[in-house]
Amino acid sequence: MRQVKIFDTTLRDGEQSPGCSMNLSEKIILARQLDKLGVDIIEAGFAIASPMDFKSVQAIANSVTNCVVASLARANKMDIDSAWEAVKSAKKPRIHLFIATSDVHMKYKLRMTREQVLETITEMTAYAKSKCADIEFSAEDASRSDRAFLAQAFTNAIAAGATTINVPDTVGYSTPQEMGELISYLREHVEGIEGVDISVHCHNDLGMGVANSLACVKAGATQVECTINGIGERAGNASLEEIVMALRTRKDFYDADTKIETRQIYKSSKLLSNIIGVPISPTKPIVGANAFAHEAGIHQHGVITNVQTYEIMNPDEIGVPHRALVLGKHSGKHALRERLEAMGYEINDEELEDIFTRFKKLADQKKTITSSDLEALTLHNSKVVQENAPDNVGPVCQLVSHAVNSGSGVPKISYVKIKRDEDILEDIAIGAGPLDSAFKAINHMLGVNARLEDFSVRAVTDGEDSIGEAVVKISSDGEMYTGSGISTDIIEASLQAYISGINKLFEEGK
Ligand code: KIV
Ligand code: ZN
Repeated sequence: MRQVKIFDTTLRDGEQSPGCSMNLSEKIILARQLDKLGVDIIEAGFAIASPMDFKSVQAIANSVTNCVVASLARANKMDIDSAWEAVKSAKKPRIHLFIATSDVHMKYKLRMTREQVLETITEMTAYAKSKCADIEFSAEDASRSDRAFLAQAFTNAIAAGATTINVPDTVGYSTPQEMGELISYLREHVEGIEGVDISVHCHNDLGMGVANSLACVKAGATQVECTINGIGERAGNASLEEIVMALRTRKDFYDADTKIETRQIYKSSKLLSNIIGVPISPTKPIVGANAFAHEAGIHQHGVITNVQTYEIMNPDEIGVPHRALVLGKHSGKHALRERLEAMGYEINDEELEDIFTRFKKLADQKKTITSSDLEALTLHNSKVVQENAPDNVGPVCQLVSHAVNSGSGVPKISYVKIKRDEDILEDIAIGAGPLDSAFKAINHMLGVNARLEDFSVRAVTDGEDSIGEAVVKISSDGEMYTGSGISTDIIEASLQAYISGINKLFEEGK
């Protein structure tokens, strides 16, 4: 059975899409989780894009132990130098170099002739190779490129030292049959292709990103580029969890598998969703809340009689926690740790202490604590974020108490008390609603000018005593920050979310 490499670009192609940005500590937390998930390559970012991107790629290169760490670079010396500086301290560094090869991109974007592009590929691949042994070359918009020209472009890249050639369907235009045929064509027409990895990178504009990637694997691709939850430019990239589980479940058809530790899939998906504040659709394959829920009576009966009647995958294999009632008010720390470990969370003593304190508080408010509650408590563990912030420059704020006054025909006044490092601050403000006035009070006492851009609250579990999870997106000086908070009181959850967004703003020294 062939083993296909998984190249995860959540932190590059995923992160560059609107509403999915992450700060440094969040990127490190996610990169470590991707390493645990067993991806072969992490594309950590685009080092030249900004000093912050450079710093993130470098920090990730120093934080992961098993996988290759890549930085993207355009085909010019400055980009390549920056990519190399950022990844060179990784155990296994890679430079990922790209240039467009379709006529429309060459003419209107690059303003280069075919000959100039071929020359640049040779020169810049050789330049990158003089720095790093592991070189990936991508022909941007490959699927809309002239095939013979594309084959020549890859031939040049391999001759100059590329060890992986990547075939992107940049605008998500191709069909599975076309992508499969393209891979077969390239296998026949690119000189030296038998000695390198053939990668595919499919966007999802027509909803065919995963199908296109799988068709390429069937045709002989040895690496697939994808993102957790399918996040990415426009309609996103091919989703990692769908590709991995399609290969695992249909090994018989694809005769290929990956080395992904599938029990880490669910946790990786939840972690990303929590960090970027983008919920997972209930019907999302593999990780959606309904992916393993059997509603229709006839299905339920079938599953009870023999699970294989309606279930093609075992949710345990993906790490989906059992929804059963798990712990109660009298459960101790030992039981909590055991339960969290069974759910795939490795936590140190300090984190356990923090989660246990919040667990006890929650157990006083809620009769039963389910695995979804525990998941929320663990994912909203601000200690983990703080520990992973390599050089946290700003103060850390925490909500101490609050009171809001709301109703029709009365002024909407809020009082908020905050602990900022060791100082206690408090303020009162009036606004259009209870949250508007509370957010104004927070801005005023912390001296920030944050603007609320987006806000949502949802119930984490069923039932009237469910935990509410609030997510806020705030902007300041053109930068966006996502904050989240949980509580059985949605006003409290919202204030925690707002303050966690401001902590991220402070973390970046703003
Ligand atoms: O979609 C694309 O073509 C890309 C390349 C830079 C690989 O993201
Ligand atoms: Zn892309």
